[in-house]
Amino acid sequence: MVTHYNCKGGGRSLERPFAVPPVMRLSLWLLLLTGYGAADVDWSQIPTPPVFYHVHNEPILYYTLDSKTITEAHLENLKERTLRCAARGNPPPRYEWRKDDKPFLLDMYQGRVAKVPGEGSFVFSKLTESDQGVYQCFAINDNGTALSEKVKLEHTWINRFEPLPPETVEVELGGSYSRNCTPPDSNPKPRVYWILKGNEEGVFDSINASHISSNEQVRLIV
Ligand SMILES: *[C@@H]1O[C@H](CO)[C@@H](O)[C@H](O)[C@H]1NC(C)=O
Ligand SMILES: *[C@@H]1O[C@H](CO)[C@@H](O)[C@H](O)[C@H]1NC(C)=O
Repeated sequence: MVTHYNCKGGGRSLERPFAVPPVMRLSLWLLLLTGYGAADVDWSQIPTPPVFYHVHNEPILYYTLDSKTITEAHLENLKERTLRCAARGNPPPRYEWRKDDKPFLLDMYQGRVAKVPGEGSFVFSKLTESDQGVYQCFAINDNGTALSEKVKLEHTWINRFEPLPPETVEVELGGSYSRNCTPPDSNPKPRVYWILKGNEEGVFDSINASHISSNEQVRLIV
């Protein structure tokens, strides 16, 4: 009888030779759990180097110096740019800026530099010509230093068209006419479009007619 029982049992255990009995499985879990508990990590004690999380700055930030055509409120806005820099790390990083590879001390620009609390970011306002340059942020803690992308601050300018007397061009009815326009030097490259001078002084109309096209290569085709 005993032999017969062994034979059956042996057959079964051959099918699943490595099956772990439930009680043992439970104790394995307990072991794993207690093992994990013992190795509980205090992450606040582990130093990590600074890693940036700010939305990357555009490679070139343009600002304007020209005050002729724009209202004052709008103008202030155009003379102000935000340079973003923010990093995580343990301990929390401090920030330094460089302009053209020389230290740029934010505290030296009080009244024009507004720092974003808890970050290295700042809003630079009332920009002048001498603020042009390449800016870079460093995030520093005991565990390392991170260098941000470089940001170029550049002021925009555009020369004036050469003053030319009005010109009359005669075109046959139903004929076509096209002419080019060479824009004055500027930074960055200008967008060019044609407008219609209205009858009243200082009134301009946008060209909105299917038989007039004005393309990106600054050519007007009528
Ligand atoms: C930064 O901390 C890690 C531990 O998290 C350490 O291994 C590494 O050497 C540290 N690096 C520096 C530059 O301090
Ligand atoms: C151009 O003209 C069409 C039809 O005359 C009009 O629907 C459209 O709003 C106009 N667009 C502009 C920019 O004036």
